[in-house]
Amino acid sequence: MRNAIISGTGFYAPPRVVTNDHLKSQYGIDTTHEWIVQRTGIEERHFADAGVACSDLALKAAEQAISNAGIAKGDLDLIIFCTLSPDYHFPGTGVVLQQKLGLCDMGKFIPALDIRNQCSGFLYGLSTATSFVRSGTYNNVLLVGAEVHSAALDLSTRGRTVASLFGDGAGAVVVSASEAGGRGVRRVHLGADGRFADILCQKIWDISQRPFIPQDAAGIGQVQPEMMWARMDGKQVFRHAVERMIGSLMEVAGQEQLTLDDIDLFVFHQANLRINQYVQQHLGAPESKFVSNIQRYGNTTAATIPSLLHEATMSGKLKRGMTVATVAFGSGFTWGAAIIDW
Ligand code: UT7
Repeated sequence: MRNAIISGTGFYAPPRVVTNDHLKSQYGIDTTHEWIVQRTGIEERHFADAGVACSDLALKAAEQAISNAGIAKGDLDLIIFCTLSPDYHFPGTGVVLQQKLGLCDMGKFIPALDIRNQCSGFLYGLSTATSFVRSGTYNNVLLVGAEVHSAALDLSTRGRTVASLFGDGAGAVVVSASEAGGRGVRRVHLGADGRFADILCQKIWDISQRPFIPQDAAGIGQVQPEMMWARMDGKQVFRHAVERMIGSLMEVAGQEQLTLDDIDLFVFHQANLRINQYVQQHLGAPESKFVSNIQRYGNTTAATIPSLLHEATMSGKLKRGMTVATVAFGSGFTWGAAIIDW
């Protein structure tokens, strides 16, 4: 039986740390460390400097993952890039990463696929990578989740609810074929509910209008703040996140005939530490089986799950032979859960 295993992990965050107090002192946001920590658990996040793109963060995480997988760049067969903060509207950032990895110079014109499923992006990507590997189409898939949120946050008091949540970073894994039993992605369960597309979104333009971005008399595009910045009904997102995360976790565990006691490590997407604590308490699983780094990085969207897999592997908390349950929920709404035998 051909399995799809996670053969290597990587993570990179840009060096500049922005604490909750910095949001106040450097950006002039009317907020407090206490408010943010109490509501979200976030203490600080990393922001990339101007000139650094999503693909730049992705490159560093990808190189680590490739090296940790014990393969060469030239062994890759496919790139899957998950992000909501791509370098360009089009083309996708996967091709930019391909070029930055030096694959084009090597004549490795492998396919590059972009996934636009926000906080669930990594699990949508994992499902896609697993299918390609299990079917025998590809042997080594580079799966990256990367975000430069800081460029597109309304870092003012007007935008404080959203701005205090997000940070920049990139996580990557290599999904590889293995004939060895007892290891690999067992199952990924995915879902979406487009009725809530407007609840958490960043529109920027309206493609139904002509032109799609209003112009001034000089032909310069004019984007109003309500279109430019992300909008979110935080309370609705919170409520649905809790329901869907519990539901999809129970669904995927049930399909694999696992009880929660069979899970050695829970790796949840991190939008808000309070959401994850609520889910953990509802499940009644011990805190020692959970990992989190949102305190240090904020919500890095598509990067949170691979960042945790990397940190847990490096620290020894995640070891070969363990069974991992991973869950995500985000804009769309979209969600997913996976069981992985590490
Ligand atoms: O992947 C992203 C998915 N997003 C999420 O998962 C977010 C889920 N939702 C949440 O985490 C919470 O709804 C938030 C943490 C975003 C907000 O917490 P909340 O308890 O729902 O607060 P709220 O939006 O109802 O705002 C309460 C008050 C408001 O002031 P008034 O109108 O009562 O005077 C806000 O303006 O808190 C104010 N507020 C802030 N105050 C200080 C909002 N953001 C801040 C802030 N600092 N950063």
